[in-house]
Amino acid sequence: MSDIKKIKNEYLDKLSGDLNIENINQIKSELFGKNGKISNSFKTLSSIPSEERKKFASDLNLMKDELQEKINIKIHELEIKEINTKLKNEKIDITLPERDIIQGKIHPVSQVIDEISSVFSEIGFSVEEGPDVENEHYNFTALNTPDNHPARDMHDTFYLDNKKELLLRTHTSPVQIRTMLKGKPPFKIIAPGRTYRSDSDQTHAPMFHQVEGLHIDKNINMGHLKGCLNYFIKSFFEVDKIKMRFRPSHFPFTEPSAEVDIGYELKDGKIVIGEGDKWLEILGCGMVHPNVLRNVQINPDKYQGYAFGIGIDRLAMLKYGINDLRAFFETDYRWLNHFGFDPLDVPSNYRGLSR
Ligand code: PHE
Repeated sequence: MSDIKKIKNEYLDKLSGDLNIENINQIKSELFGKNGKISNSFKTLSSIPSEERKKFASDLNLMKDELQEKINIKIHELEIKEINTKLKNEKIDITLPERDIIQGKIHPVSQVIDEISSVFSEIGFSVEEGPDVENEHYNFTALNTPDNHPARDMHDTFYLDNKKELLLRTHTSPVQIRTMLKGKPPFKIIAPGRTYRSDSDQTHAPMFHQVEGLHIDKNINMGHLKGCLNYFIKSFFEVDKIKMRFRPSHFPFTEPSAEVDIGYELKDGKIVIGEGDKWLEILGCGMVHPNVLRNVQINPDKYQGYAFGIGIDRLAMLKYGINDLRAFFETDYRWLNHFGFDPLDVPSNYRGLSR
């Protein structure tokens, strides 16, 4: 038997066995590699007498094609086999029972922030945001707070460095400064967000929420402030009439300043807003101090306005009958399930403002 035939028979035999991809690669290199049997046979061509050379070359080529073809078929078969095992293993067993779906709820504070934003957006306020980590300048100095003011005290403020330059903002008022520095008057914004003070008891948490309001334009007066807050409180609590009381107060960044109480009464253990003779403080406000306007390069003879800061958690407690502030931040799943809001259940006064 000629060498060519021998090689051919040997390898056809090998290729008819049960092979994996490594076996096939091995065969390929034995035949077609640098020193493979077929490659070597081609190298002998020149030493073959010329009358036999043509036949030898043609036999060699035929064998090469035949074995190559056989190898290709084998590889194809292996691929199909692999796909089939994969399909078999990845089959979905539809007889398995489904997993429980745990539906999340919207936290009352998030809900109330959305409601507040929605009410204010109806009367032309846009929503701004500022960082929780604030600098001393925006939180205090630019807001006309004197160096010796008690609010700057370590006991009240969480400072983040020894130089007392960085802190966790103690109120949302620095967003007033940030807003006025980056634009030109008029301004009509609210800024909801987290605020921090070193305080903790049944009605105070070290982290709480405020919404700042700022309206600066020509000829804005305290009547506008009263009208705006009156509209807000009625809309937010969904009542036609409310009792509202402005008490003189002091903030370094407003003059005059006031605190606002709303009237309520307890009926069957429930808080009813707008009736009765009890008062509850819900916000601080006033006319923006001329020094604050000067600090952000606004001429106080040309522009005036009002600002307010509302305690969001308080409003949420009042509106939804929650009596312990600390529960808001305990992340108790059962509590959230009870007091939280279904994301698909839209309350009647919610007009769909996306934050
Ligand atoms: N920043 C004040 C506070 O946290 C509230 C306030 C805001 C008062 C704006 C006046 C104007 O108590």
